Amino acid sequence: MKQFIQSLPKVELHLHIEGTLEPELMFELAARNNITLPFKSFEDVRDAYNFHNLQSFLDIYYQGANVLITEQDFFDLTWAYLLRCKNDNVVHTEIFFDPQTHTERGISFDTVVNGIHNALSKAVEELGITSQLIMCFLRHLDEESAFTTLNQSLEHKDKIVAVGLDSSENGNPASKFERVFKAATKEGFLAVAHAGEEGEASNIREALDLLQITRIDHGVRCSDDESLVKELAMQRTPLTVCPLSNIKLKVFDNMEEHNIVALLRKNVCVTINSDDPAYFGGYMTDNFMAVSNAHEMSKAEIAQFTFNAIEASFIPQREKNRLMMINKAYLENN
Ligand code: ADE
Ligand code: ZN
Repeated sequence: MKQFIQSLPKVELHLHIEGTLEPELMFELAARNNITLPFKSFEDVRDAYNFHNLQSFLDIYYQGANVLITEQDFFDLTWAYLLRCKNDNVVHTEIFFDPQTHTERGISFDTVVNGIHNALSKAVEELGITSQLIMCFLRHLDEESAFTTLNQSLEHKDKIVAVGLDSSENGNPASKFERVFKAATKEGFLAVAHAGEEGEASNIREALDLLQITRIDHGVRCSDDESLVKELAMQRTPLTVCPLSNIKLKVFDNMEEHNIVALLRKNVCVTINSDDPAYFGGYMTDNFMAVSNAHEMSKAEIAQFTFNAIEASFIPQREKNRLMMINKAYLENN
């Protein structure tokens, strides 16, 4: 199964580029930018990654991002992730970035987006990996800051396909961002949002009702509301699920109790993603393997996660058809 999963052509739809900052690169960038880290060694950093909920992770994650200063830093971060994609046979990836994490520290929007974009362009040429970029608003910040960010993004519309919503779910409802999402979709951006990660199932309904989103990030708490699960299945509303993240952040006690396979079997359009792989202990193959080790599944079921991801992606229909054909052939021959 490891070989089948490793070589399966994969599509990632939920990946925070700041969450791919491995301790080794964190130290390298800190040295390059004369920043003192509160850690003595790589081991020290990894020891600090013991989270008990979403907020305890976010505090460390925002601190890690402080080493990212120049366009070259954002390029190097993104390129390192793309090499992981190549290794895992991820053929298409839709990447989140959090502009406010950087603009709040005085780094310009242009520096961030250009560094990431240049790495993505190089990956098309040199690695054969395609991608899209999704700009997330931080939900713990206010509406005005989100509007400022939207305005900064307008001259980079050619590089950004969608807006998203991440950070602390509890206490920061979708309603806080209804107007900014309306403005963003009017500008032609697609929209997604984190909901139902550790917050209630009603957050998923609210995000769907208020934000004009075409997919839900996480959404695993939908299982608390059976009628919502039925609606999600009927509408084929995609959920970008992140199994290892959910275990690390204690959304589920263990992988055996994770609901992703049950949702798949109810025809919900669930996909497997890595979220913040440097913090949660694994990239795409690791996430697929963790689910497969804990749940007995056929190869066709495992491949269905990728069929779902192709269906849920923001790539043109012709390209979706091409990827579907490649994956069907892979499943038939393996
Ligand atoms: N930002 C980075 N990872 C996140 C997650 N899992 N939930 C909410 N915001 C995030
Ligand atoms: Zn996320």
